[in-house]
Amino acid sequence: MTTTSESGSDREAGMQNGKSVFSFNDGWEFQRAGESGWTPVPVPHDAAFGLPLSVDEDPNHGFAPSPETRYRKTFARPAGSGRFSLKFEGVYMDSQVFVNGRLAGGRRSGYVPFEVPLDDLADTNVVEVVCRAPTPNTRWYAGVGILRDVWLVRRTGWTLEPEAVAVTTDLREDGAAVVRVKVEDAKVVEPAGGEFVVAKPALWTPETPNLHWLTVTAENAAGARATTRIRYGIRTVAFTLDRGMLLNGKPYRIKGMCQHDTFGALGAAFNLPELKRQLAALKDLGANAIRTVHNPFDPKFYDLCDEMGFLVKDEMFDQWNVPKTTFGYAQFFADCWRDDLCAIVRRDRNHPCVVLWSIGNEIREHCVGTEGVGALTRQMVETIHSLDMTRPVTAGLSLPSSADASGVIDALDVVGLNYNADWYAKLRGRKPVFGSETAPSLADRDTYLFEEHDGRMVPVQAQGHRECAYSPRAFDWAAPAETALRAQIDSPWSAGEFAWCTFDYLGEPNHTGRQHKDYWPARSSYWGICDLAGLPKDRYYLYRSLWNAAPTVHLMPDWTHPGCEGKIFPVWCYTNAAEAELFLNGRSQGVRRFADTTDLHLSWDVAYEPGILEVRARQADGTILTARQETAGAVAALRRTPIFESDGVRYFRFDAVDAKGVRVLSCEEPVEIEVRGGEFVCAVSGSPTDHTPFSSQTRRLFRGSLVVVARGASASLDVDCRFVRPPSAADPQN
Ligand code: GAL
Repeated sequence: MTTTSESGSDREAGMQNGKSVFSFNDGWEFQRAGESGWTPVPVPHDAAFGLPLSVDEDPNHGFAPSPETRYRKTFARPAGSGRFSLKFEGVYMDSQVFVNGRLAGGRRSGYVPFEVPLDDLADTNVVEVVCRAPTPNTRWYAGVGILRDVWLVRRTGWTLEPEAVAVTTDLREDGAAVVRVKVEDAKVVEPAGGEFVVAKPALWTPETPNLHWLTVTAENAAGARATTRIRYGIRTVAFTLDRGMLLNGKPYRIKGMCQHDTFGALGAAFNLPELKRQLAALKDLGANAIRTVHNPFDPKFYDLCDEMGFLVKDEMFDQWNVPKTTFGYAQFFADCWRDDLCAIVRRDRNHPCVVLWSIGNEIREHCVGTEGVGALTRQMVETIHSLDMTRPVTAGLSLPSSADASGVIDALDVVGLNYNADWYAKLRGRKPVFGSETAPSLADRDTYLFEEHDGRMVPVQAQGHRECAYSPRAFDWAAPAETALRAQIDSPWSAGEFAWCTFDYLGEPNHTGRQHKDYWPARSSYWGICDLAGLPKDRYYLYRSLWNAAPTVHLMPDWTHPGCEGKIFPVWCYTNAAEAELFLNGRSQGVRRFADTTDLHLSWDVAYEPGILEVRARQADGTILTARQETAGAVAALRRTPIFESDGVRYFRFDAVDAKGVRVLSCEEPVEIEVRGGEFVCAVSGSPTDHTPFSSQTRRLFRGSLVVVARGASASLDVDCRFVRPPSAADPQN
């Protein structure tokens, strides 16, 4: 048995002061309701993923079924003496764990860790885990199964659990830091007196994610001593009425994105390489914060946010007592909220990345102003503060007037506004505010849909199941991205915003003009600024141009519109340059300056002719950066570009290109994928309507592109993609 690492502060622990942690992920089998055999599988595992979709299933769950699932594992009595238990980081959901046929524990919430004791073990033992998540249970694809790691834990004597330790940091006026350590129900022995001063602290910020380790020794009432190691960061956070958020005493704007903890074409089971890829995309975007919608994430997420430098708004619930879905957490809320809330605050409070606790998203009681909801909100805020006084408690309010009338706004430390930008001004001087959810827009990647009106090509939101990248549709409940960003610029007292959302996800396939079952065949969302394959849509560059100081120049739409010669197209450029000049086939179409517009993009009306559309953006230092769109010819090849690599997993993007290397967006032909010297993992095009299993090595391109994921050492791994049949000559049609 090899000692291994648990997540969180114990992650480098191994054997420390009576506690050892071993991976228990291998050697499981699973069986879905109605199946007779057992299938071997390592966990984390999502048993709903890859099952055939049906129009009769829940659209919010991506039309995927969610059968009751059992896991079992046979294991020998572990060597050594002591008390043994199993720790589950998250089992979705309403789980029961049986050890040798006896109920040993379980957890209603699928997102909160729990331990079950392993008492009276025989030489050979069987652990069984039952997961029940009938749909509808969430408003997105949540999967079902042992979605996160499982650990075998051995304890001897009294142990000091990292969750029992709270490390807090303060900054003095002379710049020194005071680090304070508290341990629940025990006296701190080391550091002596429970605090120490760091004269010249290396502070934690998203830009300088400095981390430190601390050895903590405590003594319990019986005089037993135990030690643990905690990783922490030195930083302070305050939300103010007039200056937004202060990080280490200085105003710091939240440039955040909302994100589900699912992994696109890889399902809902925790996936480290895909998480790293998601976080790398957020860094490139210039985002400095992530909102965990609408539940706590896997513990490794918080480790990575500490290390890479992201602020986290740690969110607990999407529903309280009043259900949003028939079989959701509302069934359990009354009995479980306090334990679940405390477990997560204790788990996450030593992460410098966490700057806000959110007790809910658009909670129905907040929306309707249910009697007693103000008091319940206050109770939850106080529960959190009994464990952590250093971070404020918030909630995402979608109907702030009802929430206000029922005392919810008064009960919260900081008000999160889902949309409702007019409330920034209403709450000014009364409560610290920020945009907890802003700017939802429906779009497909690289998709430009127009209707002609008197010779002008006017963007339309949808055609069939395709949604347009200009996102012209205004929702009556939410401002478009540019308006939301402008509202932040105009409200300097707001702490910033979390935009909806980074990546398309399975489930919630809302699109224009349709209701529920009619979403079919769309099975994934259209809300992301990146598609399901993780490829950026146009709106990605809007945020990048504002949030990342590195140069951004992005031009839309594509420039292949046969039959539209002479028609006027709206051409947009997202850039952080102050001005840009557009050229069509070398002829200037004029200079545009941000000084002359309130838009957050530059725009031109251009009469279409085939050729090269090029924008030249002048940076502050005088350098010129260009971006271009070029009329595509017939498909000549599939271009391969390695785009990400982590933990032995590699991502490749394939694009259909013409003889000059111009992308042919209209090419949606099937391709075959071949992996040599490694293992195929999945292929994903970003299409919300393509039901080809992600595990299939034959699938269609979507808007000319596809991402292939493969596992293997980079030196030997080779991934190739070829058309199943020669692409048709009609490809350049848009
Ligand atoms: C919000 C909700 C999110 C998601 C989003 C789609 O109101 O909080 O979970 O449904 O709408 O725009």
